[in-house]
Amino acid sequence: MRAIRYHRTGGPEVLSLDEVPEPEPGPGEVQLRVHAAGVNFADTERRRGLYDAQVPLPRILGSEAAGVVSAVGPGVDKALVGRRAIVLTTGGYAERVKAPASELVLLPDGVSFEVAAAVPVQGLTAYHLVRTVGQVREGQSVLVHAAAGGVGVLAVQLAKAAGARVFGTVSSDSKARLVRELGADEVIRYDHEDVVAEVHRRTGGRGVDLVLDAVGASTWAGSLQSLAPFGHLVSYGSASGSPPPVDVEALFEKSLKVSAYWLHTVHPPGLNHQSLESLIRDVSEGRLRILIGLKLPLAEAAEAHRRLEGRETVGKVVLTVSDEGGGR
Ligand SMILES: NC(=O)c1ccc[n+]([C@@H]2O[C@H](COP(=O)([O-])OP(=O)(O)OC[C@H]3O[C@@H](n4cnc5c(N)ncnc54)[C@H](OP(=O)(O)O)[C@@H]3O)[C@@H](O)[C@H]2O)c1
Repeated sequence: MRAIRYHRTGGPEVLSLDEVPEPEPGPGEVQLRVHAAGVNFADTERRRGLYDAQVPLPRILGSEAAGVVSAVGPGVDKALVGRRAIVLTTGGYAERVKAPASELVLLPDGVSFEVAAAVPVQGLTAYHLVRTVGQVREGQSVLVHAAAGGVGVLAVQLAKAAGARVFGTVSSDSKARLVRELGADEVIRYDHEDVVAEVHRRTGGRGVDLVLDAVGASTWAGSLQSLAPFGHLVSYGSASGSPPPVDVEALFEKSLKVSAYWLHTVHPPGLNHQSLESLIRDVSEGRLRILIGLKLPLAEAAEAHRRLEGRETVGKVVLTVSDEGGGR
């Protein structure tokens, strides 16, 4: 089968389209014929050697895939063969992936492979940021950095659905329009506006209850200063570089809380499966809009990385892998 691998860390040019053996499903596993593979910012960090650096190379990139079950291993119901599904897995940039059958989420007919491929990583991250960690409630205010990005567009919608007043930061006018269209109440151009001053001006000097920050180095100080008393800053990434160490003493004056979220932490049993099913239901029933900002064939993974790192994309970046047998 064909797969995108990197043999050494570096720029997008280290990605190569290689011929590799298909993964064989073992006991309790399924093999999926991939139709769409999600691209995530963390893939670009892995490729650069900033994430999972200890993993042996060459390695197939990709943490999620949507497709059709093509084979099952011992102990798995054969009726799954032919079913459309998504999975959070490794090695998604490929024509076939394998994964534990228990982690598959079956797709309703109305949800396309490309839309579905946007949900496992960015959807679950946004879901846990807003619900599990942020516990957003009606009437609260939430600031989402990089609000036009993959996680951002979903966090804006989920926070809005929870009844919050949502602030989003973006770096261009077109991203600002998009974020407003998705329901953000306040949009701040953090490339040239003073975020702290804007947040305080628009909240009557109070600040916001929750900040979701995966930009890191360039936003961190402003994120802390944008919080209201008893506010909560959640770090979940570092697109602009690592944030500085937390100065606990500086949190006292406003009784602030700083925390972190990582999708690969061991979650309570069944939580991710249930949350993913609930997100797919929201997408299928029109409560959650998936925005595919860029779609390229598998062979053009390097170009997808260039544009994602270059801040040129909005919403989800998807690689289309195969159109045979039921793609829609
Ligand atoms: N903790 C977890 O489990 C978890 C899971 C998924 C994602 N993440 C993190 O969440 C963030 C968003 O991931 P994503 O896949 O949805 O990507 P994304 O938001 O679609 O793309 C990254 C965005 O970050 C913004 N950005 C700000 N400074 C940047 C810089 N110096 N270089 C590049 N981009 C910069 C850009 O938006 P503007 O141009 O509008 O600034 C860019 O579009 C990433 O940091 C990722 O690592 C964490």
